[in-house]
Amino acid sequence: MKRIGILTCGGDCAGLNAAIRSVTQCAILKYGWEVYGIRNGTVGLLTDPPLVEKLDVNFKGFGHALLRMGGTILGSTSKGNPFSYKKEDGTMGDCSNQAIEVYHKLGLDALIAIGGDGGLKIMSQLAELGNINLVGIPKTIDNDVSHTEALGFSTAVEVATYALDGLQPTAASHDRVMVLEVMGRDAGHIALNAGLAGGADVILIPEIPFKMQHIIQKIQSVIQTGRNFALVVVAESARMAEKDPLMVRYEDGAERYGGVGDFISRQLSEAIHVETRTMVLGHIQRGGQPIAKDRIMAAAFGVKAVQLIAQEKYGRMVAWQHQEVVDIPLKDALGSYQTVDLNGSLITTARGLGISLGDE
Ligand code: F6P
Repeated sequence: MKRIGILTCGGDCAGLNAAIRSVTQCAILKYGWEVYGIRNGTVGLLTDPPLVEKLDVNFKGFGHALLRMGGTILGSTSKGNPFSYKKEDGTMGDCSNQAIEVYHKLGLDALIAIGGDGGLKIMSQLAELGNINLVGIPKTIDNDVSHTEALGFSTAVEVATYALDGLQPTAASHDRVMVLEVMGRDAGHIALNAGLAGGADVILIPEIPFKMQHIIQKIQSVIQTGRNFALVVVAESARMAEKDPLMVRYEDGAERYGGVGDFISRQLSEAIHVETRTMVLGHIQRGGQPIAKDRIMAAAFGVKAVQLIAQEKYGRMVAWQHQEVVDIPLKDALGSYQTVDLNGSLITTARGLGISLGDE
């Protein structure tokens, strides 16, 4: 009999609830364990009293609703770093001991953290410091956690592709260039994948700094072939060669990527007098219903994470490789950052199709 905890940390994505369901269902029905959901990521461990609730598979709709539902029923945050946490009095400080103490006080045998690169790094540090038996499940629409495909990525690509499917007919009806700005903090996987699936003429990713002249030339050559519209997909973090990426300062003082889609639209219409429109896809890429692929991965990740705990294999992360679920040391996954492989087949495919990547 074990008591395990589960939390979601960092930005949400599709498939988190399906993973929570899978962990809970496997732990309770297969092993007879107790599962405790920690609310709002690490904030649930830093709040007094802790924000913890027992999860129950018999709760009406638990399995069926969760499988299909976007977001995370446990809540999440990107502002819950216990090593630098904003306390109630407004000051910042290291509250990691409090989080560790709560984990032990709850009598948990292990903790499953569903997180991205940043969240899993923090959880791994915390686990090492406080003897927490941690298993990680990778999630992020950015797909930048190494050695795996991450939960939520496929759904984000599907949403962005659907957006291009909607933009193409309206672009063709009005002789316009449509610029679609998609998410992707420091990695262009969504832009590249959706751009290929949605028939983009130009795909701009942070891994390949762009020059406006190449984008302009590509659009001109599309027009010269007699086509009356064009599609551009740009990752929010894409940047012009020798320039910094465009950022927007938010109310919380943080800077986030934003504005590159609009920049490209304006540059294009000024340079070659084409009519352009920009669409910033934003958080709809994160919040939607998971597509089948993410539900299947969530199911496999959840079961594998519980099995790892049953075998007392900690400090591991479940991973999706070659259509199989495997487990790897968390440290291996967190040691590097998975950007688009510039020699990979998707880049070769894009170039082979004559898609401009902004560098030629
Ligand atoms: O990391 C996931 C992500 O969706 C990025 O693609 C994006 O830049 C960022 O999170 C947005 O985060 P926030 O939730 O702060 O708007």
